[in-house]
Amino acid sequence: MRLNSPKINIISKACMKASRSLIRDFGEIENLQVSTKGPGDFVTSSDKRTEKIIIEELQKAHPDYGIITEESGIINKSNTSNRWIIDPIDGTVNFLNGVPQFAISVGYEENGEIKCGVVFDPIKNEFFCAEKGNGAYLNNSRIRVSNKKIFKDALLVTGGPKYSSKIKEKIFSEFEKISKIVPNIRRFGSAALDISYVACGRFDGYWQREINYWDIAAGTIILKEAGGFVDFFEPDDKAPLKRNVLASNTNIHKELKDLIVKKNIE
Ligand code: IPD
Ligand code: CA
Ligand code: CA
Repeated sequence: MRLNSPKINIISKACMKASRSLIRDFGEIENLQVSTKGPGDFVTSSDKRTEKIIIEELQKAHPDYGIITEESGIINKSNTSNRWIIDPIDGTVNFLNGVPQFAISVGYEENGEIKCGVVFDPIKNEFFCAEKGNGAYLNNSRIRVSNKKIFKDALLVTGGPKYSSKIKEKIFSEFEKISKIVPNIRRFGSAALDISYVACGRFDGYWQREINYWDIAAGTIILKEAGGFVDFFEPDDKAPLKRNVLASNTNIHKELKDLIVKKNIE
């Protein structure tokens, strides 16, 4: 069975087209021109080319829609009712180092709510997608979050902090606190895949501070439609595109949240 939805089909076509040059670039990684965007945050010509192809494809279908992208900023600012949210390569540092753990992430937001999304890993050929009310899929199979109930047995994943983060100490102490309870925490370097892996039960939970909206917009609906729970804790009104996110199966959600949010207030 496959998720058959007009919006997912549009996104899928854009991802497939963009992934062709992305796969080629990955194979020739050493020839790529790399310029520095900031410490610990690189942007490659591949990011830009992938994003351009995706935008062109999505605009063919809906020229009037707003677009929030990592590389080009906001397009069609006046349309805030229908927006695509794009991260052309989530996991750029992996990509740049020849590590096959990165994805294209495209979400569709309607009146402030993510309605559908795709996270596509072109190297492993894993296509995660979901649409509100219609379930979540990995390739042609329906996916669900894990059923793990015992928090200390959970396999968690996280990311960050960025080199430039001003709250590094807080993030490290949070990690230390959780790692004293949960023995296995991974750090794979692609938030979009991290959250999608929770959706298909490979991981039981994911959390991260200071994440950008485009990193997890598509993943959010994939996780929810897979029966998981997403929480955006401690929102910052001054940085609307930044998020602190916690995503997990429903069983361990409270324990993870209590550990991060409550204990930080104490
Ligand atoms: C990054 C990845 C990484 C996360 C960073 C993100 P990028 O996205 O999702 O896992 O820890 O916070 O910025 O820069 O590779 O698109
Ligand atoms: Ca990203
Ligand atoms: Ca990116």
